[in-house]
Amino acid sequence: MNPSEITVFASATVANVACGFDSLGFAIHEPGDEVTLVSTVGTGVRVTEITGDEGRLPLEAHKNTASVAILTLLDALRAKGDARADAGFDIRIKKMMPLGSGLGSSAASSVAAVVGANALLGEPFTREELLPFVMQSEKIACGAAHADNVAPALLGGFVLVRSYKPLDVVQLHVPADLWCAVVHPHIELLTEDARKVLKKNIRLDDAVVQWSNLAGLITGLMKEDYELIGRSLDDIIFEPVRSLLIPGFDAVKGEALANGALGCSISGSGPSIFALCRGEASARIVGQAMQQAFVPYQLDTDLYVSQVNHQGPTLR
Ligand code: HSE
Repeated sequence: MNPSEITVFASATVANVACGFDSLGFAIHEPGDEVTLVSTVGTGVRVTEITGDEGRLPLEAHKNTASVAILTLLDALRAKGDARADAGFDIRIKKMMPLGSGLGSSAASSVAAVVGANALLGEPFTREELLPFVMQSEKIACGAAHADNVAPALLGGFVLVRSYKPLDVVQLHVPADLWCAVVHPHIELLTEDARKVLKKNIRLDDAVVQWSNLAGLITGLMKEDYELIGRSLDDIIFEPVRSLLIPGFDAVKGEALANGALGCSISGSGPSIFALCRGEASARIVGQAMQQAFVPYQLDTDLYVSQVNHQGPTLR
């Protein structure tokens, strides 16, 4: 391999995980995006090619999530007086997942880019230290620097963003038999829009239910108590509002639960819907039932069945 060129794959992520709005997320094995970086002689970051986006993503370096992550990394080097801040990169992005899907598409591109740049620069930052750079990309993408997609895409696993200020991300234990079915209906929902519909104030009694479920879900993961995981996978605050933007949501969730899912909710800001299941066979049955439930709504769908991806980004 040419040491001045690197290709990195970063995967899709399921954020929120029902009761953990902006604070929980996990990586799955596919789909994902591939980003190739080439070190250039001069300075400057250029997006030279994007495929798979139907010409919709910006090529301007300060607008594209992949280049913004690298520019933010270079700024951090500059602030430390590190000469590597003057490095230059050409970026080629291969989008292999849909935009506005609720699968962390922008996160996958920015994570792959920043991991590649860090490697070509000789690893000036640890994986964890790269997190603020990809959060900046999320801010560009949707107006909010939420970390519940980028943290699991970057670090792998099932993560809790315990705090944003200061940033504190915790890896959670995942039971061996936990599988996920994610169904992506072919409609687009931009996170920025799906955040605008949210209420700004939450009733105290709703908050109590939500944070109790979040505690229950994490306890269920730690204790490998699948029933507790299932009972806790409930979002009484955001799902009732956002599900109205997803045709067939109630039918799809109903079929997931009727076919043995532990629980089911919106993946990230939607429109994808995920179900957690015990075992691969169950996840496949549940996923197919969810796809069938979309049929009357004349929506084509993709199904992804996966365990939690503990590996994180990989070199290609
Ligand atoms: N936590 C974010 C949201 C995830 O729900 O808006 C977006 O994928």
